Amino acid sequence: MPTPAAPAGALDLLAGRMSCRSFTSGRISREDLNAMLRDALEAPSSCNQQAWHFVVLDQPEDLARAADLAGGNPHFRDCAALVYLCFQKGWTHDNFSVVQGVAAAAYHLMLSAHLRGWASVWNAGTGDPAKVREMLGLPLIFENQGAIAIGRAAPDSPARKPPRRALQDVVSYGRFARAEESIYPAKPAAAYPFHAISRASNPFAQWDPKDWTWAQLADYRAYSVWAKSPLAGVYTSRREGAATQAWLQMLAPLPRSASVVEILAWGGTSTTALARHLPEDAALQVAELHRHNLTFIKDRLRHEGISREVGELLAPEGLLPCEDRSLDAVLIPQSLEHMADPALMLAEAARVLKPEGQLLLSVRNRSSRAGAEWAEVESKGQVPLQGPWTPLRPRKLLALLEPHFVIEEIAGLGLAREGGADLCRATPQLWRRRAIALRARPRG
Ligand SMILES: Cc1cc2nc3c(=O)[nH]c(=O)nc-3n(C[C@H](O)[C@H](O)[C@H](O)COP(=O)(O)O)c2cc1C
Repeated sequence: MPTPAAPAGALDLLAGRMSCRSFTSGRISREDLNAMLRDALEAPSSCNQQAWHFVVLDQPEDLARAADLAGGNPHFRDCAALVYLCFQKGWTHDNFSVVQGVAAAAYHLMLSAHLRGWASVWNAGTGDPAKVREMLGLPLIFENQGAIAIGRAAPDSPARKPPRRALQDVVSYGRFARAEESIYPAKPAAAYPFHAISRASNPFAQWDPKDWTWAQLADYRAYSVWAKSPLAGVYTSRREGAATQAWLQMLAPLPRSASVVEILAWGGTSTTALARHLPEDAALQVAELHRHNLTFIKDRLRHEGISREVGELLAPEGLLPCEDRSLDAVLIPQSLEHMADPALMLAEAARVLKPEGQLLLSVRNRSSRAGAEWAEVESKGQVPLQGPWTPLRPRKLLALLEPHFVIEEIAGLGLAREGGADLCRATPQLWRRRAIALRARPRG
């Protein structure tokens, strides 16, 4: 059979598909839905069994219920339809071939939607599997693996497609070869059986960032920050919102036209709070390990309606591209515990601060109840999108600061793992708080 040439522009059109997480809440006809689903059924499947099944929700009350269940995917509420990706278990199972078949159809569905002018997003996060099963009336022999949300993109929907890795970094001919920084550390083991690894339980996950290189941390965070769109409110943790405000109150008054740098900014969550908190004449810059994080933060700030100009600093290997003694404030918002070499970053902060400058730091506390829960529960699972981290014990934190900083104010922040933003200044109680917040001056 001769190889047909790809119609001019068709592949570019397909490559223009990108996820949408902000919809207009307009409806879609079943005729349109069926047209897309018919396209999806042209996908290949293992042994041609087409063991897939698609349960479609297109009624507003059903979408609202699905959104309640999904929790972390609020766009379920505003999309026009949710196509649940299901399959029958027990046949042609090896190498997850049944799942591979559903995935092929799912992507075909998204491309069809895209070519027909609809936006979509694939969601593995659909909520508690038992509740989803009940909602869909799914028999036990069927499994749900995700849902494609389809709708019209809202005017504020971000227009930037998340960055892709370079071909030579993810493709190798003949034998495996891959960019070193994109092979992440795992605990040494004779084998890594797939079935032994899940989000909640990953015995091979390396949570200590000191076991990662700066380049690995940069790479991991650079791509996974795009797991969501840079919309207002994204990545805002229930745990940390109010606590960030309380922490910022500890910032001492700044001189006029102050230079402020924030280091590793949580996809712009902390930058948003800081940009609103700082006096208008202050110059704010964000330092990140990878330019992709800076791009995300820039887009995010635009969606948050922040008009202040925020500068971008690239700090590969944990080195700040700033002159000695040039800054009035450096802020490290619970990100020291994510760094490959926190001592280096503190030395850098001391180097770039003016003698009268201030370091504002907040660190999650290993000696708190939340720290114990991290050790017993959270750290047994997969490392999060923001990268590996370990809470610090107060003694360790003080030892890290000692060579470079004199502490001026210190407080414990919140008690419960779930939240709490009260500042506690009494010792020894403050050492048991969820996070330790402090302001320090560089040593002379
Ligand atoms: C299997 C799979 C599961 C996904 N799950 C989610 C999800 O639960 N929530 C979400 O917002 N995006 C989810 N996504 C979308 C990805 O984050 C997105 O495809 C990726 O960031 C690349 O962006 P793009 O689709 O715009 O090219 C998922 C994608 C795939 C393929």
